[in-house]
Amino acid sequence: METIEAIKARRAINHFDKERKVSAEVLEELLRIANLSPSSFNLQPWKVIVVEDPQMKTRLREAAMNQPKVEEASFVLVMVADVRAVEENQERVIEDRIQKGLIKDKSQGEGIKEVMRLLYGEKDSLKRKIFAVKNTAFFAMTLMIAAKGLGLETHPMDGFDEQKVKALFGLREDQIIPLLVAVGFPRPGLTLPERPFRRELKEFVSWY
Ligand SMILES: Cc1cc2nc3c(=O)[nH]c(=O)nc-3n(C[C@H](O)[C@H](O)[C@H](O)COP(=O)(O)O)c2cc1C
Repeated sequence: METIEAIKARRAINHFDKERKVSAEVLEELLRIANLSPSSFNLQPWKVIVVEDPQMKTRLREAAMNQPKVEEASFVLVMVADVRAVEENQERVIEDRIQKGLIKDKSQGEGIKEVMRLLYGEKDSLKRKIFAVKNTAFFAMTLMIAAKGLGLETHPMDGFDEQKVKALFGLREDQIIPLLVAVGFPRPGLTLPERPFRRELKEFVSWY
């Protein structure tokens, strides 16, 4: 499916086919494609928890405002934005740049690390949280469009209790869950409600 077509056809799908499961191989392909998402300095602050076990889905549904799609979908992806990604991944980012001939040596790498510190602050700063959530949201959006391209449907969800979901998967207090994404095939015969309105460009675009 062409990109523009996939973007235009994507919808938040409320009802999934419980009988038709997306394979783990296809899900991995989807995750590999989404992993090509851009990120600041290529720091890739996303982590993904794949929930497929029916009992875990039931518990996740309880923590997600009882939304039936959590149990119906083949997989529910818990998107995790990790504020520690700067410290975790910066050495690899520098090594990669040296290896690809983009920078000369580690001393130039130290300069890049300094810029990272400046832009993304300390681990508990608002700057750092915004960095982690922004890049993880790009990952999630790429995944939803790519899913459409692979013939799958998705549903993004904000409707969950973050503390409960963190407890369910043993996440750290400083990790953030920007959203959950349900992935699956649509329930057979599903008719979608008309797409919710979008604002006119003039309402949100300004030109200078
Ligand atoms: C971050 C995010 C969180 C959302 N959370 C929920 C949710 O918890 N439950 C729900 O039914 N819809 C949720 N939605 C779906 C939106 O309501 C839906 O995307 C919007 O109405 C536009 O519809 P469309 O995606 O079909 O074009 C969420 C969407 C986004 C992007």
